[in-house]
Amino acid sequence: MKKRVGIFVSGGGSNMRALVEDMVDDHPARPAVVVSNNETAGGIAWARSQSIATEVIDHRPFGEDRAAFESAINSALAPYALDIICLAGFMRVLTAGFVTPWQGRMLNIHPSLLPKYKGLHTHARALEAGDTDHGCSVHLVTPVLDDGPILGQARIPVDPEDTPDSLAARVLAKEHILYPAVLRRFAAGDTTPITL
Ligand code: GRF
Repeated sequence: MKKRVGIFVSGGGSNMRALVEDMVDDHPARPAVVVSNNETAGGIAWARSQSIATEVIDHRPFGEDRAAFESAINSALAPYALDIICLAGFMRVLTAGFVTPWQGRMLNIHPSLLPKYKGLHTHARALEAGDTDHGCSVHLVTPVLDDGPILGQARIPVDPEDTPDSLAARVLAKEHILYPAVLRRFAAGDTTPITL
């Protein structure tokens, strides 16, 4: 039985696309649904164009009530009987109430070499720190933001001419290789960290 994967996106969804395009043939998983808090997310349009089921749960009507937002997500997810959730540029913080039941089955990609630069603006922070290398990490999600056991990292050298945008573009290209490589192994039961 193929593992059923839900992918959460808020924006363009290029990582989601890389994951979906890898989940073919003998891959141990298949995309079951793409979830977004944003109806206009480019990732949602692309998923629909591929006839992948989508669920949009706008966070705004819930205001500060994260528990109610997350309960709506859980209700929307129930029919899909997911085995794995991949966060792929999902820009809402999920609370322990949502994360804990999924712990060990939910992955995230973050554009830094964790534990460095949790949170936002990772590329600018790496440049400000004068780092000579930078990269991205895939990790298991725990209730602590951008924390949790690392399943894989990809590293790139920082060029003296780099700007946050140029660095982001090179890291993103690595994300598209790292995340599918990690998911393929994870879905087969292998959680040994990989380094690219
Ligand atoms: C990626 O850089 C990812 O690491 C971060 O958000 C960005 C999402 O890009 N969490 P995309 O929507 O996958 O193109």
